Amino acid sequence: MSVEHRPLAWNIGEEILGLDLSKPLDAATVAELRDLLNNRCILLFRDQFISPEEHIAFTRQFGETMHTPALERMLHPDYPQIWQVTNVRQKDGTESFSRNTGRLWHSDQTYMPEPAKGSLLHCKEIPSVGGDTMFANAYLGYEALSDVMKEMIAGLWAVHDLNEVEERRSRVPPLTPEEIAKTPPVTHPLVITHPETGRKILYVSQQVTCQIVGMSKEESKPLLDFLHSRIVLAEHTYRHQWRPGDLVFWDNWCAQHFAPMDYNQADRNERRVMWRTTLAGGPVDGDKTAPAAA
Ligand code: SIN
Repeated sequence: MSVEHRPLAWNIGEEILGLDLSKPLDAATVAELRDLLNNRCILLFRDQFISPEEHIAFTRQFGETMHTPALERMLHPDYPQIWQVTNVRQKDGTESFSRNTGRLWHSDQTYMPEPAKGSLLHCKEIPSVGGDTMFANAYLGYEALSDVMKEMIAGLWAVHDLNEVEERRSRVPPLTPEEIAKTPPVTHPLVITHPETGRKILYVSQQVTCQIVGMSKEESKPLLDFLHSRIVLAEHTYRHQWRPGDLVFWDNWCAQHFAPMDYNQADRNERRVMWRTTLAGGPVDGDKTAPAAA
């Protein structure tokens, strides 16, 4: 039986209809979902009131869950495969570590040598207004470049550093020295090839890509900003307004995402609770050899 689906936006996203994610899927359905994800970058499943165990089991039908050695403060205390993204204060009254997670465009864990393949974000609670997530198609970011620009950036690498970008540091609690030690800067090509579709992707994030290898920071910034602006052109995006029970599954190679500060976080009753599993990926540089970080 083939999966029923309909587009969320012209250039990105597909809503999947009629599946119950609390039950294991057959191999043909998993293959069809994987194919849709590779090509449409994000999948939405509505009305999935699943348990954490079912969320993890659904994720594992697509691969291994990822462990990120730093940022253990994000982990659910009972389910280490789940990251909690929430503005709800901790039991001792302190602010949630993750209340401003994702406030700049990015794909997940590109600050790791082997970035995440996918992420599956499940909505538990949502504020009365806002709390949205935006997504952009990074295949189209690459395809929007001129042939001359494509040629200029072919072979360039960039540094991804969780602790370097000032705009990120100003929004989130500081990392501990131990967390910094666990996430040294890494390099990835500016253009990667999706291992399953073979299409090229612009691999530059606003959140952690801080320098082009071999260039100064001052030289790098305008080029990185320009390249990133091509990914997030309005026509390449979809803005998701969450409902409890929504699960959005995105491909971290071809999709970027961003959580705008679009709700009243000062009001403690405006709770946003999202649980995320992350799919392990692999090297994004194929057989290319990384130059040393600058
Ligand atoms: C994330 O960046 O993984 C979280 C995005 C969100 O909370 O909308």
